Amino acid sequence: MVKSMVLARISLAALFPLCMCYRTHQSTGAGSLSPWFYDNSCPNAQAIVQSFVAKAYAIDPRMAASMLRLHFHDCFVNGCDASLLLDSSGTIESEKRSISNRDSARGFEVIDEIKFALENECPETVSCADILALVARDSIVICGGPTWEVYLGRRDAREASLSGSMENIPTPDSTLQTLVNMFNVQGLDLTDLVALLGSHTIGNSRCLNFRQRLYNHSGNNDPDQTLNQNYAYMLQQGCPISGEDQNLFNLDYVTPNKFDNYYFKNLVNFRGLLNSDEILFTQSSETMEMVKFYAENEEAFFEQFARSIVKMGNISPLTGTSGEIRRICRRVNHDF
Ligand code: HEM
Repeated sequence: MVKSMVLARISLAALFPLCMCYRTHQSTGAGSLSPWFYDNSCPNAQAIVQSFVAKAYAIDPRMAASMLRLHFHDCFVNGCDASLLLDSSGTIESEKRSISNRDSARGFEVIDEIKFALENECPETVSCADILALVARDSIVICGGPTWEVYLGRRDAREASLSGSMENIPTPDSTLQTLVNMFNVQGLDLTDLVALLGSHTIGNSRCLNFRQRLYNHSGNNDPDQTLNQNYAYMLQQGCPISGEDQNLFNLDYVTPNKFDNYYFKNLVNFRGLLNSDEILFTQSSETMEMVKFYAENEEAFFEQFARSIVKMGNISPLTGTSGEIRRICRRVNHDF
């Protein structure tokens, strides 16, 4: 057993030689989660997840960003319990239908593939919620970001909350105070908010989520005209005043597929794509200082990011005999 653990660690290091590993401490409320949860029951679980993330990334690099986002959208609705993954059925109103997820959340097929492989390897053992947490970490690592030990042992919900998904996931037109409040409700503070928003260093947004910043300076989501005018002009070429809602743009226009601190550098240069990004730099001196600090110091960003995402992953997990280990992530077991 010890040998297989050592081998797993070595193969991780061999695959991702440039990663820096941050040791993190658990926040409260997740006492029974542990990095070693599957060491006996499914020792290859982490290596299997990692290989599927690598495969998905090789086919479509954006998939890393999409899968990271799934973990966030799952954890903010009744905790990290894979409720997001449930499709609508008799008793379930899927969270996939909320404004934040519809036509936007993606990566569900990759999660299905991973779950299928894990059910073959060790049936009814590895939860879908833990798969999301591992996939989030491996996605960041493969994009060049930090790594950390993922705490494991979450179980899966038997229900979903469409209304929770509507109410708890922040939207890009939120004020800074609203973002802060929504994070506080989840036990996350201002530092967590700023660090976790650094996720927008990878991935895309659709035109409809930032159009108002390009055309409506009086209306008024961008009251201070906080968008660099050359950048705004460039965006207008693919995001007209109406139509083309689904056109995609890089959240970080400089290094779109690399997990680095360019997100923060862009904010300093008034080139944050979403209004909810740029307001970190413009609506409070406290967050402005953090943005400047991370823009200058990638190492500090990585370290805080690792701490904050572990904290996010610990939001209200189901443990012990609560919930279940789903056999298929899209369905609760009694729906078979
Ligand atoms: C704090 C408030 C946040 C707001 C308002 C917000 C909003 C958004 C929006 C509007 C998009 C584009 C969606 C689309 O156009 O389809 C997006 C993408 C994304 N978000 Fe956030 N987000 C927030 C926080 C976070 C956090 C905490 C994470 C991760 C921990 C995250 C990870 C991502 C990623 C990786 C993408 C790109 C997804 C892809 O390309 O498929 N976001 N976000």
